[in-house]
Amino acid sequence: MNKEAPIGIFDSGVGGTSIWKEIHALLPFENTIYLADSRNAPYGYKSAQEILQLSIKNTEQLLKMGCKIIVVACNTATTNAIDYLRKNYNVQIIGIEPAIKPAALQTTTKSIGILATKGTLSSALFHKTSQAFAKDLKVVEVIGEGLVPLIEKGALKSPQMTALLQKLLAPMIAVNIDHLVLGCSHYPYLIPQLVKLLPKSVKIIDSGGAVARHTQRLLIENKLLNTSETEPCLEFFSNSKTDTLALLLNLYKNKINITNLNF
Ligand code: SIN
Repeated sequence: MNKEAPIGIFDSGVGGTSIWKEIHALLPFENTIYLADSRNAPYGYKSAQEILQLSIKNTEQLLKMGCKIIVVACNTATTNAIDYLRKNYNVQIIGIEPAIKPAALQTTTKSIGILATKGTLSSALFHKTSQAFAKDLKVVEVIGEGLVPLIEKGALKSPQMTALLQKLLAPMIAVNIDHLVLGCSHYPYLIPQLVKLLPKSVKIIDSGGAVARHTQRLLIENKLLNTSETEPCLEFFSNSKTDTLALLLNLYKNKINITNLNF
């Protein structure tokens, strides 16, 4: 596989761009292809079988486009499909899991909150990780019902979003959590609102930085790091409307291409 081949990234929609930003910041010369499967968002309420089928479709599309490594920038797809993808495709596949471990190691109130989709919270992989690191803690798991559709619409700062977050955070604040783990790649876009709504003592943890570092490590280990130091080709494809993608990537608008594609 050639080093200039792109890193392939997919998500159920626009949220995985939070992971893309971390990857691009750490690996600025890497070519990337991002697939936003927004037509099928949210994945969080689909059956495990449907999530697996969508993950296979996205992976095969990225491989068809010549990607050298795949990042599953969606917690729900990771928890439901990563084992299958790793067993069945001959490229490195990186997933994203809720950062329960750092929260569990750092908590002093022994009480942490996890905001994720139903698909993630009910998965065997999530249960295993929670048991491994947090079984002696109070873990308040809250399904972020309604958040992904609002983020997909770009309604990040709407009154509806504020009211919804207040409702979802209430059971966590009630038990004095000191860490909030964001278990969905869409949620980092809510950090400015979360900071306003949570007590100042609560630390918010997401997994984007860890995924980017892991991607870098695997590229180095597999001798796939792009060392050319030329302007990268940064492609984004969505199978639905592209306005929210453009809004979230506005800062990069002069260096990226956003295209509508039926995949
Ligand atoms: C969803 O599509 O429901 C959310 C994606 C995620 O879990 O990151």
